[in-house]
Amino acid sequence: MNRNIGIKGVGYCVPDKVLSNADLEKLVDTNDEWIVERTGIRERRVLSEGENCSTIGAEAARRALAHAGMTIDDIDLIVCATFSPDYLCPATACVIHSLLKPSKHIPAFDVNGACTGFIMALQVAQGMMTTMGYKNVLVIGAEACTRFIDYSNRSVCILFGDGAGAAVIGDVEAPAGFLGHSAHADSTGVHLISIDAGGSACPISQKAVDERLGFIQVEGREVYKFAVKVLGTAVDQALANAGMTPDQIDFLIPHQANIRIIDAAAKRYNMPMERVVCNVERFGNTSAASVPIALAEAWEQGRIKPGMVLAMVAFGGGLTYGSTIVRV
Ligand code: UT7
Repeated sequence: MNRNIGIKGVGYCVPDKVLSNADLEKLVDTNDEWIVERTGIRERRVLSEGENCSTIGAEAARRALAHAGMTIDDIDLIVCATFSPDYLCPATACVIHSLLKPSKHIPAFDVNGACTGFIMALQVAQGMMTTMGYKNVLVIGAEACTRFIDYSNRSVCILFGDGAGAAVIGDVEAPAGFLGHSAHADSTGVHLISIDAGGSACPISQKAVDERLGFIQVEGREVYKFAVKVLGTAVDQALANAGMTPDQIDFLIPHQANIRIIDAAAKRYNMPMERVVCNVERFGNTSAASVPIALAEAWEQGRIKPGMVLAMVAFGGGLTYGSTIVRV
C-alpha cells in the first residue's frame, strides 16, 4: 500500500532554568558582546537536579501526543535522537517508554546522529513504518548537553543548552506528508565534535576525569566552515529527491547552532528571516533537539500553516548532515 506519512503533532519542552551570557561572564573569560556577535546566543536553558534527557524528552512527547489528539497507546514505536543520553545503556527511548507507560511492549531505541539526529530519526521511523506497518511513531530529539559541558572551557560552554522536541508521525491526507530526504556522514571530520571518554575506546578512569575527557570538545572554526558548505548540499539533495525546486520552500527550519550559519542558509535560498525559524538567541545549541524545538515553537506561534512546505536541515558530530522536506 502506498502510504502518505507526515507530521500529526509536535511538542517541545525546555527546562525553566536560564543561563545568560552575564552568568557565563562570571565563570569564564568571555563577554556578552563576543558571544552575541559570534553566535547570536543570549541565553540557554539548563537542566536542574532531578531533570534528565529522558524527563524532558517524555514531556515533549506528551505535548506532541496532546497536539496530535492521541495517547501513548496509539503509538507503535518510540525513536529518540540524542548524543547526551541518560545512560550508555539502556537507551533513553526505553527510559522514556518507562515514563510514558504504553500498555503494549512497543519497540523503543535511540539514534545517535548528533545534531542531525532528529532528521535521521524521522527517516528511520518512516522507513520502519513502511517495512513494519507501524501506524504512528513518536520521534523525539532530546538533549542534556550541559551535563557534558566543562564550564572552564570558554569556547564550548557558551554554545550549548538543554531541551527536547517531539513529533508524532503517521498517515496524513495528501498533499501533506514527507516529500524528500537526504542524509550523509563525512567522517574526515569524525573527531571535530566529540566526547572522548565514557565509551569503550576510553572507559571512565581517574586519568580520563583529570584530563576532562568526558566533556564535549568542538573544533568550532572547522565545524563552522563545514556547516556553511553542507547545509545547501543537504537541502538541495532532499529537494531533488522530492522532485522540487528551492522556490517551493515556504519555511526553513535549520539547526540552531549559530546565527551566522542560519543567515548563510537563509541567503542561499533567498528566504527572508520571517520564513526562517531562529530561536538560537534564547536556547543556544540544543543539538538533536534544536530542529524539533524550532518546528514545535513555530507551529505553536501559528507561523506554520496547513499546506506549507518546510525544509528541515541540520549538521553535527560525525560529521553528519541531512535534510527532510515535508508538507504540513
Ligand atoms: O552543532 C554542531 C556544533 N556547533 C559548532 O561547532 C558551532 C560551529 N562553530 C561556531 O559557531 C563558531 O566557530 C564559534 C562560535 C564556536 C567560534 O567562533 P569563531 O569566529 O570561529 O571564533 P574562533 O573559535 O576562531 O575564536 C576567535 C577568538 C580566539 O582568540 P584568538 O586565538 O583569535 O586570540 C578565541 O580564543 O575568540 C576567542 N574566544 C573567545 N573569546 C571570548 C573563543 N571563545 C571565546 C569566548 N569569549 N567565549
